[in-house]
Amino acid sequence: MIRLLVLDSGVGGLTVLDEIRRARPDAEVLYVADDAWFPYGALADDALVARVVDLVTALCAERRPDAVVIACNTASTLVLDPLRSRLPVPIVGTVPAIKPAAAASQTKRFSVLATPGTVARDYTRALIASHAAGCDVALVAAPMLAAHAEAELAGAPVPDEALAAAIAPCFVERDGTRTDAVVLACTHYPLLAERFARLAPWPVAWLDPAPAIARRVVSLLGTGDADTPAGTGAIRFTSGRAPAPSLARALAARGLARADG
Ligand code: DGL
Repeated sequence: MIRLLVLDSGVGGLTVLDEIRRARPDAEVLYVADDAWFPYGALADDALVARVVDLVTALCAERRPDAVVIACNTASTLVLDPLRSRLPVPIVGTVPAIKPAAAASQTKRFSVLATPGTVARDYTRALIASHAAGCDVALVAAPMLAAHAEAELAGAPVPDEALAAAIAPCFVERDGTRTDAVVLACTHYPLLAERFARLAPWPVAWLDPAPAIARRVVSLLGTGDADTPAGTGAIRFTSGRAPAPSLARALAARGLARADG
């Protein structure tokens, strides 16, 4: 049995949690949705670092996890070093899947769809410089998409036009080549992936980092023992608000019980 702490600003990290629980069904997981501070993508850098370091430090003291998963690109592109320098526990981050996109793209033209925070980060630009030097990369900031994903799970989906407008800048046709891959560089976006695929002006590969995060957890903590009983899952909302009925059903379907703290 392993104990994991998984953090995001909201329900986006559930896309990562699903893969982790598939890989380690024996894990005892606390998922923390820091909805009191949502959206992280709109926060100033120093405010975000201070918030996440304080929250994760307190949660580690309370839960003593074997690993912490920051299931959020907006936070990971900023807080991994400060967390690792303060806490002895392994910290697994979620950062834009730029290296896999450069490998997957045949046209060498791909897009990175992310929050304004992630798009602005030196970390993101350094990933492009190191791993996608031969590619034409469009960095697309989407200020509202994480909120649209929250609305989708809460049973109040936004109209197609809003999603189509948000993803439109990802689709570039220039010099006889087209974008053929889009990095979903915010963990909320896979919640909208089916709608994105339907609204896309042409088919592309949509790259979701969640399976790679689960593999990283397994490489750190092992595959577990097939005989170990199934673990438990709990979710805490830092706002203390009760989830909307549709979200409550989605959480129940994942076997996530409310954990107050
Ligand atoms: N889920 C977060 C990410 O991966 C972002 C959402 C937010 O802006 O709070 O970037």
